[in-house]
Amino acid sequence: MATLHVLFACILALLICSAAAAESYNKKNQVPAVFVFGDSLVDTGNNNYVHTIAKGNFPPYGRDFAGGRATGRFSNAKGVADYIAQVLGVKQLLPPYLDPSLDLQELLTGVCFASAGSGYDPRTPQKMNAIPMMTQLNMFKEYIKRINASVGPERTQEIISQSAYIIFMGSNDLTNTYPTVDYRYTEESYTDLMISLALDFHKVRPEPEPDQLQCYNEIAN
Ligand SMILES: *[C@@H]1O[C@H](CO)[C@@H](O)[C@H](O)[C@H]1NC(C)=O
Repeated sequence: MATLHVLFACILALLICSAAAAESYNKKNQVPAVFVFGDSLVDTGNNNYVHTIAKGNFPPYGRDFAGGRATGRFSNAKGVADYIAQVLGVKQLLPPYLDPSLDLQELLTGVCFASAGSGYDPRTPQKMNAIPMMTQLNMFKEYIKRINASVGPERTQEIISQSAYIIFMGSNDLTNTYPTVDYRYTEESYTDLMISLALDFHKVRPEPEPDQLQCYNEIAN
């Protein structure tokens, strides 16, 4: 778990600090879309559409966003998910999937499924009625069906297999759930839980890359 956090932190630092290098790299290796899963660190507004206390749609959130608008991002302006999409050269803002006004072009270049208050542990989102990890994955499955219906299987396959997938999750398990409930997980079994979720995540992709499959199998065994 600690290792994963460090890994995510490193990836983020790398993404943000080497924006210039990334931009020239991306001219040649542009990903078609970005998909982000997780909690408030990356929620760009899904919780606006959820009955929950975990909302970022009121001041002072968004005071430095264009127009000083609180968008549901848990930030004074843009959020981490937006910066990832920007640095990867895809778009400036990564919209929340639950926004009913998304047009096809927005959908095809990626969306955010994250929900503030969520966690890997299914008990964590219950406390705040956030969107659980498995529901975020089911939203992604629904997303695949939607774009498939619009642009057909070939383009859908291309988008799903070549895009960037980012997960920011786990802090709420540690800060909200574990201190207040029985300790069901040891560090080892918590890691196992994350791996099994990663495997589920992997299964919804229509066609896994062989090296990814191998990598997941190595971790799981
Ligand atoms: C995509 O649409 C085709 C029909 O155009 C259908 O046969 C296929 O099952 C769909 N795939 C997914 C993943 O929904």
